[in-house]
Amino acid sequence: MSLMFYSPIDDPDPWREALGAALPDLEFRVWPDDGPLDNVRYTLVWKPPIGWHRQFPDLRAILSLGAGVDAIVADPDLPPEVPIARLRDAGMAQQMAEYALYGALHFHRRMDEYARQQGGSVWQPLAPKLIGERGVGVMGLGVLGSAAAAMLARTGFKVAGWSRTRHQLDGIACWSGFEDLERFLAGSEILINFLPLTPDTLGILDAATLVLLPRGACIVNSARGAHVVEADLLAALDNGQIRGAMLDVFAEEPLPALHPLWRHPGVIVTPHVAAVTIASEAAGQVIDNLRRLRRGEAPVGVVDRAAGY
Ligand code: NAP
Ligand code: GLV
Repeated sequence: MSLMFYSPIDDPDPWREALGAALPDLEFRVWPDDGPLDNVRYTLVWKPPIGWHRQFPDLRAILSLGAGVDAIVADPDLPPEVPIARLRDAGMAQQMAEYALYGALHFHRRMDEYARQQGGSVWQPLAPKLIGERGVGVMGLGVLGSAAAAMLARTGFKVAGWSRTRHQLDGIACWSGFEDLERFLAGSEILINFLPLTPDTLGILDAATLVLLPRGACIVNSARGAHVVEADLLAALDNGQIRGAMLDVFAEEPLPALHPLWRHPGVIVTPHVAAVTIASEAAGQVIDNLRRLRRGEAPVGVVDRAAGY
């Protein structure tokens, strides 16, 4: 019985070590290899190619190396009955909250504008605003969004959150559903995205929604690039509707060298690092799920395929 590891970015060695120590009778294999395909019971994957899972005839579960599973559920050939389990936090919630807080403070304290002023040797104090009056909107109140919202609220921001179903979170104004989106966006001077990429959220930040933000709003996107219609964001940055954007994720990654987002003065680019999977933090969750599966139990963190997350 074996587990097949596939990732274009993760080092398999710490995973081999952790899983080998905990489950010595489970063979750990790294794709590509030329062993038999019919004894692969589990896969542990990040962005597997479309159609890749089809080749394992006796697959029992797909374990994601990430929190987001859009690249896995995008495969129309996935065996329908096989559960997909994603990482829940696994060390990412703290990283994500730090990234969100950094972005929120950057724009709240107008560091983007001071950086531009510095470029022209301009000494010009800008009007401050109390942190408790600065509206920060958090899109997605799941594992990562709720952790970030809590940290932003503890820091003193006026935080609102938006999710599919209604949540109740201390100190956070909670909105839900597309019927609340306009009111949620109207109060978001800094908008931070933690949504999963699904058919409902694809392109959700486009010209029609960006215009609903207060004029001069700022955006932090730490979820998926395809949430943002990049041409619409560039237009909104150019016309002043959006003052600045801190972007960790892009429609195409790595961001192509000639892409205008690299050079736009209102944009900060980071290379999909807002919250990374660290094997020492995440292996326990994967091992626990493998033990559950081998006992015939459902894994934790099963993805609702119909909802897409
Ligand atoms: P999660 O726990 O599944 O939370 C998803 C949240 O989004 C939930 O609150 C959910 O609402 C909400 N949501 C889903 N569809 C919605 C819709 N149509 N309208 C409104 N709200 C909707 O996911 P997570 O663990 O927090 O991760 C979120 C995403 O972060 C991942 O999917 C991934 O794309 C991204 N991510 C990025 C990085 C990075 O480094 N850049 C790292 C890790 C993850 P309900 O609560 O009502 O279900
Ligand atoms: C990273 O983007 C993840 O989904 O874990």
